[in-house]
Amino acid sequence: MVRIDIISVLPQLIESPFNASIIKRAIEKKIVEIHFHDLKDYSTSKRKQIDDYQFGGGSGMVIMIEPIKKCIDSLKKKRDYKEVIYMTPDAEILNQKTANKLSIEGNLIILCGHYKGVDQRVRDKLITMEISIGDYVLSGGELPAAVLCDSIIRLIPGVLGDETSALTDSFQDGILAPPVYTRPAKFENTNVPKILLSGNKKKIEEWREDKAIERTKKIRPNFFN
Ligand code: ADE
Repeated sequence: MVRIDIISVLPQLIESPFNASIIKRAIEKKIVEIHFHDLKDYSTSKRKQIDDYQFGGGSGMVIMIEPIKKCIDSLKKKRDYKEVIYMTPDAEILNQKTANKLSIEGNLIILCGHYKGVDQRVRDKLITMEISIGDYVLSGGELPAAVLCDSIIRLIPGVLGDETSALTDSFQDGILAPPVYTRPAKFENTNVPKILLSGNKKKIEEWREDKAIERTKKIRPNFFN
């Protein structure tokens, strides 16, 4: 079983996506185990302080290294972890290749940033990998951590009912997914493409490939560079 430990100053912000749908099923099937840790519980000060002003001045608080180190150390003492990941906008952007890699690697620790972020020494000493979910800034790393977990967990063998389903997602083979249709075959004045109703598997496969390429060229031409 894969274990993911998520460290945050606001664990309530992240718990709900894990209580529904595919992730919930993966947890119930005991394929993955998720644990949340409130950084305040690892504070080394009497006042339960976990952040402080920046040295050198400037707005915004910075999360201190001590509670983070204490939390990570206590986890590492109990089991091995493949990566200690820090969610932050100033990092490489998550893509399907990274999700694939992390889905087969083993236990993970994910640290969520907040305020102005964490003391640089956390990143230098304790973190093995940094991930952004896109070039925009969110209020904290909790939603990005949920996004990362979802992208990883659905790829773990046994999580998706139909094993081929993840393989036909957009990005898995470097192109976007083709359009899909369901009933009714005719809706107002639009019809489902005839080929999909033909029963000709080979022709349908060719059509899907053509449409996937056409869509990728239009929306994400850089994929072909
Ligand atoms: N924290 C705030 N914004 C973020 C982003 N875009 N990706 C990852 N972590 C973040």
